Amino acid sequence: MEKLFAVLGDPIGHSMSPMMHNDLFSYYDIDAHYLPFRIKAENLEDAVKGLKAIGVAGFNVTVPHKSKIIPLLDEIDELALQIGAVNTVVNEDGRLKGYNTDGQGFLTGLQFYVPSITGQKVLIIGAGGAAKAIYFTIAKNNPAKVDIANRTVDKAIKLVEECPFSASSKAISLPDANRDLGLYDLIIQTTMIGMAPKISESPITLINLKKQAMVCDIIYNPLETQLLLEAKQMGARVQNGLDMFVYQGALAFERWTGIFPDVERMKKNVLGQLGGK
Ligand code: ATR
Repeated sequence: MEKLFAVLGDPIGHSMSPMMHNDLFSYYDIDAHYLPFRIKAENLEDAVKGLKAIGVAGFNVTVPHKSKIIPLLDEIDELALQIGAVNTVVNEDGRLKGYNTDGQGFLTGLQFYVPSITGQKVLIIGAGGAAKAIYFTIAKNNPAKVDIANRTVDKAIKLVEECPFSASSKAISLPDANRDLGLYDLIIQTTMIGMAPKISESPITLINLKKQAMVCDIIYNPLETQLLLEAKQMGARVQNGLDMFVYQGALAFERWTGIFPDVERMKKNVLGQLGGK
């Protein structure tokens, strides 16, 4: 019988996950289909119960449900529980288990540019859900330091306090980040600044950027944010959010099927969808 996979979010119309996973199912000759469902927050519990009742094989969870889904599942993977967010659910013999592949997706995509995070001095810009998944995953992997800069410093302080891994870490303001940017080897932008309608804005200034630094933006639409454009002009190495998006999907696909998929194929598909850039 054809297996059902899904993504739950609100909004969900723009999601490229259905196209990406359906292509993989047909490429690997797996009898399965992946559907998007727009689910309002007040209907999330019913939606999860319904999916379980009809024997869903697995699903993704996106904004705004990544945290609210936790009490609705049967089991949560330890890192997902620490992050407080689930983006991937697997039906394991009738029990729904939640995982978080966002942070690991980022780190796996980064490996081609930075083979090991160990010893790296990292700055994360932003303190929202995406920042938290990336922060905890990096903190777990022995960086020399991983600091968080956020407009609202209190939110960054909270993340540092909540982090279960013993990395050298502090919360700083955005002006502090601008001043001390030269301290960092790796800068990771996780806010929505740079996305439409703020495509000409950047959350930090790069005047003090270290020459050999690497600058990542988790935004992939546009593929080159203002921050990445400026970083590139300064001679830094840059990475957009396409790798993170594709690798979080690849890790979810692996959890569902046991197959780590062809990531280059996934990237090509997403790029095609983004307008063939
Ligand atoms: P997500 O879960 O997608 O990461 P989020 O939880 O809404 O999104 O977090 C958004 C992040 O973007 C936050 O770090 C937010 O800063 P605040 O904590 O100060 O709100 C940051 N952000 C959003 N708009 C911003 C702006 N105009 N300038 C600076 N930071 C901004």
